[in-house]
Amino acid sequence: MTDMNLPDYKQQSDAVRDRFDRLKQRPVTMEVRGLHKEFATRGGTVQALKDINLKIHKREFVCVIGPSGCGKSTLIRILAGLEQPTSGEVLLDGKAVTKPGPERGMVFQGYTLFPWLTVKQNVMFGLVESGYDKNTAEAEARQWIDLIGLARFENSYPHQLSGGMKQRVAIARALANKPKILLMDEPFGALDAQTRAKMQAYLLEIWKNIDVTVFFITHDLDEAVYLADRILVLKANPGEIDELIEVPVPQPRHPDQFLSAEFLATKKRVEELIHPPKEDGDDDHLNLVRMVPVSDEVGSVF
Ligand SMILES: Nc1ncnc2c1ncn2[C@@H]1O[C@H](COP(=O)(O)OP(=O)(O)OP(=O)(O)O)[C@@H](O)[C@H]1O
Ligand SMILES: [Mg+2]
Repeated sequence: MTDMNLPDYKQQSDAVRDRFDRLKQRPVTMEVRGLHKEFATRGGTVQALKDINLKIHKREFVCVIGPSGCGKSTLIRILAGLEQPTSGEVLLDGKAVTKPGPERGMVFQGYTLFPWLTVKQNVMFGLVESGYDKNTAEAEARQWIDLIGLARFENSYPHQLSGGMKQRVAIARALANKPKILLMDEPFGALDAQTRAKMQAYLLEIWKNIDVTVFFITHDLDEAVYLADRILVLKANPGEIDELIEVPVPQPRHPDQFLSAEFLATKKRVEELIHPPKEDGDDDHLNLVRMVPVSDEVGSVF
């Protein structure tokens, strides 16, 4: 991070403020109320989430970031209906979420396509499950495969695709069910930097054109600031909301903005929250004993 004088990350241009004012007037797609989650372990209980309250508005892009183990995946699994909260509730368009449903599409980091099905069959899968006849499901699936630019690969199997292509199919499969919200848990975490950048641009393009709200977990600060309207920063032990940041970078996003003052100021704030200054007694020092002669010391000058 540079030492340049950055503006306050809370400072928003008129256009950005206006955008957030309008965003907050949109209907609430997903609401989380007083959510707590405890897991029973052999040694007692782990409190994974504590008092999470959040409203996600229609067509909003929310990114979630926080240290490992702060409860990000637990939260998204509860939103998906895959896990039950200990207390509190999740509402989708005002209705309680109790189990998985087609109105919530999921994309995970690991490649979750069925390896024995082709691209087309993978995308059709949920449609057939939810009662579409085979021809309609096939026609729908083709449209989505076309949209993600993989028409030539509709009869390929997952092992014949690159990592980025697999994640594009996973996104198409989730979107084919016309979800109200797309729940993404580090979907690009396993991709190389270049493919990841392409996938980010590609996801923004989809989001711009399709009526869907996005809840996206990441470990990557740049990714969070680049994609999000708001960033939910969680802290660990127990997993609580640290801050909810309105990203002051204008929409639509463009890679040129990575070096803008608003972008860097937001990134700096998230970094401060995730890596707070060390407290006394908190020691990262490695207890290593030198096992090389002094003359071979790395960086020594002869
Ligand atoms: N099924 C489970 N049983 C017991 N403890 C669990 C279970 N699932 C999660 N936990 C605990 O809950 C806490 C939150 O885990 P979670 O996987 O949600 O974190 P995370 O923020 O997604 O981490 P990461 O960044 O590493 O993916 C951790 O302490 C974890 O060990
Ligand atoms: Mg996780």
